[in-house]
Amino acid sequence: MSPTVAHPPTQQLPAGPSSSALWQMLQWIGRPLEFMEACTQTYGDVFTVQLGKLGQIVFCSNPQGIEEILIADPLQMDAGRNNSVLLPLLGNTSLLMLDGNAHQRQRQLLMPPFHGERMRAYGSSIIQVTEDIATPWQIGQPFDVRGAMQAISLNVILKTVFGISNSQRYQALQNLLPRFLDLTGSPAGASLLFLRGLQKDWGAWSPWGRFLRVRSQLDHLIYQQIAEHRNQSELGTDILSLMLATQDEAGNPMTDLELRDELVTLLLAGHETTASALAWALFWIHFLPEVREKLIAELATVDLNDAKGIQRLPYLNAVCSETLRIYPIAPITSPRTTRRSLSLMGYNLPVGSTVAPCIYLTHRRPELYPNPQAFQPERFLDRQFSPYEYLPFGGSNRRCLGMTFALFEMKLVLMTLLTRYQFQLEQPQPLKPVRRGVTLAPPSHFKMILTQRC
Ligand code: HEM
Repeated sequence: MSPTVAHPPTQQLPAGPSSSALWQMLQWIGRPLEFMEACTQTYGDVFTVQLGKLGQIVFCSNPQGIEEILIADPLQMDAGRNNSVLLPLLGNTSLLMLDGNAHQRQRQLLMPPFHGERMRAYGSSIIQVTEDIATPWQIGQPFDVRGAMQAISLNVILKTVFGISNSQRYQALQNLLPRFLDLTGSPAGASLLFLRGLQKDWGAWSPWGRFLRVRSQLDHLIYQQIAEHRNQSELGTDILSLMLATQDEAGNPMTDLELRDELVTLLLAGHETTASALAWALFWIHFLPEVREKLIAELATVDLNDAKGIQRLPYLNAVCSETLRIYPIAPITSPRTTRRSLSLMGYNLPVGSTVAPCIYLTHRRPELYPNPQAFQPERFLDRQFSPYEYLPFGGSNRRCLGMTFALFEMKLVLMTLLTRYQFQLEQPQPLKPVRRGVTLAPPSHFKMILTQRC
């Protein structure tokens, strides 16, 4: 009898839609949720999509496969090279652009300022910014929730990350940044980034020319801010001050260019994401009155000046977690391209394959999250999920640097709004996410009405 021969793992990429790369790209941009759902229904937990110029990407929504990706040697997985489209905004020393040892070094420099304990120093700024944005709201008048949350998250970053106290520069940045960030948020802006042919400076009237002029004004303000911080006699508590104080293993501090690129990276990565998460949380809290009641009851049990206590409230934490489960802000993590072959769910992916844990589909698995379409914060009170089952902030060496910051900000903004104001939805109907750049956000027609100040 011949011995049983184990089948070698297949060298092919997993199956996926056979439609053209352009058509798949259009589906991914215009109807991302429907596209992912249709793919998983036909091809299962691992499938290969072809996204235009991005090439073939293997999506995986099986926790075992996600673990295989996230525990692979980070030095053998490149994510930065897949972000090259953002280079004109971020610069080539940005954390999001780097891979390998250069990424590891930059991340080590940036991690200390984001340490959990440090976040608490920003509590009063977050509450103050929320108050400043909410004060002009009129009783009975609808307001654009995403716009309001964007204003809050932008101002929080300017204060706590950039450490801006000079009111003229603050004003100038507040005016410039939305124009700069529009390049990733709006479809017209995004096409400028994706279509290199449009990147021609034909003067201030051409879209690219306008972008370059906004960028140089912005850079001028940022370099002024860095120079002012360098000359400070005492170190501030803002993140820029802490970045100035860190050094790599060889004792080298960050250069002005690195500081500029990282400030813009933190702004780009942290602004829209947190704003969308807050807007979703407000939607669910007001769409489901029982959720709001439970939250209000829990908030009544804590001293509202006790940031640590607020961070630990179980139901508030569960509401934030469920908000980021049901419509994760990023539907997939940053795609990673392998420098070595990778074993994934029985496939032996060749060198140069690109893989992406699919956050959205993983968060919708019914055996993990029964009745996955329902918003049920209690699921996070009843059990703990592994980092391969619940991953709104991605994982491994690319896990979101601002995770603690974002969760802290979400909790403090929600606490401030829910304890000082009462709202209702303008239209109490379910909302469908829309794409904004690489993120999923509530639509711009989502409005709430202030009904009472408490
Ligand atoms: C609710 C809000 C946020 C969500 C849902 C979110 C989500 C994510 C995700 C999914 C990634 C990719 C992780 C991966 O590929 O494994 C990421 C990366 C990143 N995020 Fe966030 N983020 C949020 C807020 C923030 C904030 C507030 C900041 C900073 C102020 C920030 C800074 C970053 C940076 C720098 C990276 C790149 C990390 C690297 O490549 O090493 N994020 N984020």
